Amino acid sequence: MELLSVPRSLLSCCSNVTFLGLFLTVFVLLLDFLKRRKTWNRYPPGPSSIPFLGSMLQMDFRQPQVSFTQLSKKFGNIFSLQICWRNLVVLNGFEAMKEALINKSEDIADRPRFPLYEHMGICGNSAGLVLARYGRAWKDLRRFSLSTLRNFGMGKKSLEERIIEEAGFLNSAFESEESQPFDPHFIINNAVSNVICSITFGNRFEYNDKRFQKLLHMFEESMKLATGFLPQMLNAVPSLMHLPGPHQKILEIPKQIMRCLKEIADEHKESWDPAHNRDFIDAFLGEIEKAKGSQETTFNELNLLFTTSDLFSAGTETTSTTLRWALLFMLLHPEIQSKVHAEIDRVIGRDRRPELGDQVNMPFTNAVIHETLRCGDIVPIALPHMAYRDTEIQGFFIPKGVVIITNLSSVLKDETYWEKPHQFYPEHFLNAEGQFLKREAFIPFSAGRRVCLGEQLARMELFIFFTTLMQRFTFLIPENQPKPQLKPCFAVTSSPHPYQICAKLR
Ligand code: HEM
Ligand SMILES: *[C@@H]1O[C@H](CO)[C@@H](O)[C@H](O)[C@H]1NC(C)=O
Ligand SMILES: *[C@@H]1O[C@H](CO)[C@@H](O)[C@H](O)[C@H]1NC(C)=O
Repeated sequence: MELLSVPRSLLSCCSNVTFLGLFLTVFVLLLDFLKRRKTWNRYPPGPSSIPFLGSMLQMDFRQPQVSFTQLSKKFGNIFSLQICWRNLVVLNGFEAMKEALINKSEDIADRPRFPLYEHMGICGNSAGLVLARYGRAWKDLRRFSLSTLRNFGMGKKSLEERIIEEAGFLNSAFESEESQPFDPHFIINNAVSNVICSITFGNRFEYNDKRFQKLLHMFEESMKLATGFLPQMLNAVPSLMHLPGPHQKILEIPKQIMRCLKEIADEHKESWDPAHNRDFIDAFLGEIEKAKGSQETTFNELNLLFTTSDLFSAGTETTSTTLRWALLFMLLHPEIQSKVHAEIDRVIGRDRRPELGDQVNMPFTNAVIHETLRCGDIVPIALPHMAYRDTEIQGFFIPKGVVIITNLSSVLKDETYWEKPHQFYPEHFLNAEGQFLKREAFIPFSAGRRVCLGEQLARMELFIFFTTLMQRFTFLIPENQPKPQLKPCFAVTSSPHPYQICAKLR
């Protein structure tokens, strides 16, 4: 809940605003609040709220996590909040989440509006994947994207081959550090982004390519911006958009990204041969061609750009962060690292490249990757959902239009479910015979209608990248360096603090 954490930027934003503007805004907000305030039967309990700020005064802004924990202690697993005038319901714990995401999947499949991004044209039938409202346009786009990702084997290289190839480049980049300490962040980002580049643009980039670096840099910046306080404020309180200024600046980088993607899409158009789809963009151009003439189509050029951009922003930071957690856990648990090494030596050996088929024979490595996703808790509160129709969860009434926060973290670390919720313990995913064990509360990709679209791809990447690195290297904490911290920093995703690593050839 980044929204609650940076009140100082509110002050600096207000200082630009004329007093009259501020006065009018507060007045409008007040009217709006009075108009919207309703009481519902069996609505989840929550702290009392006042106009405009809602329940915000009862939050500790410096430690929103602590406030939320206190709220769920006081009000239970399902509680309500009002932030500005948005009504939110927060879901915690395995039982509530299972009922919501699985049994009531469609009831909660909508997304709230993001008025800030509507200024970029992200709305209606052209909202890409991530921010799209639940409906026909989203369904068509999601089906198309999934099948295009899945069918990548056709013609040229399969997805698996591309990942295996990239894992080779990743290994070489690690090797060129020559056992000296380095921060693996940058190199891992390059490799993971290249997979999405290869899918969408048809080619990978050298890690030092100028255009590639610029694109990665812009994505990183725009993600940072998206989770800042001001953008969240503008999304929650659209009336603020009428004030002079700040949103224009915020949208600067996302607009640059769109221009850059448009350039690439235009290049594709020029060299496009409908008989040979080279990549995701080609496939999308084909759909646009097919849909020509019909009006309400999802397959238009704006959506081509938004969807491509969604694959980048949802698919790179998350996967790359997970790999950084995995290496960190290896640093901190040498005994677990040796077990992974032993399994790789037994099943694959030192020479052959790891491939997906090895996974079924490697329960321990598989458990380590699952435990990394559980313990790393990469996307703690997923993305906001919204009630698509009136619904009921654990006996509470949730009216259509209420924003629903699914606290995945509370399931991945549910104390009533996991044996050692707060430790890195791969045995969570192993039975007594050492075979792989599926766990129902393992939902780092969320679940239901809006489940992560890239789950299969991410699992492929994690297995191949991780195993390929582990086959070649032993990872060590550099000498004379403090032990890396386990405490996450919360930004776009919940990621480890920067750390240094030594990669010694085995
Ligand atoms: C370890 C890596 C990843 C994790 C932990 C992760 C997690 C998530 C989560 C929690 C959501 C929100 C689901 C919800 O709203 O309930 C999500 C959505 C999404 N993810 Fe991922 N993800 C990962 C990798 C990827 C990759 C590689 C791609 C790209 C191919 C991707 C594409 C998407 C998209 C497009 C959505 C939006 C789906 C929709 O709204 O219909 N993700 N992801
Ligand atoms: C969810 O659905 C399943 C199967 O339809 C049912 O057995 C279960 O009781 C439901 N759970 C809740 C919490 O409604
Ligand atoms: C989510 O759950 C975790 C763990 O139970 C808790 O610390 C955190 O405050 C919760 N966040 C929200 C938004 O409720």
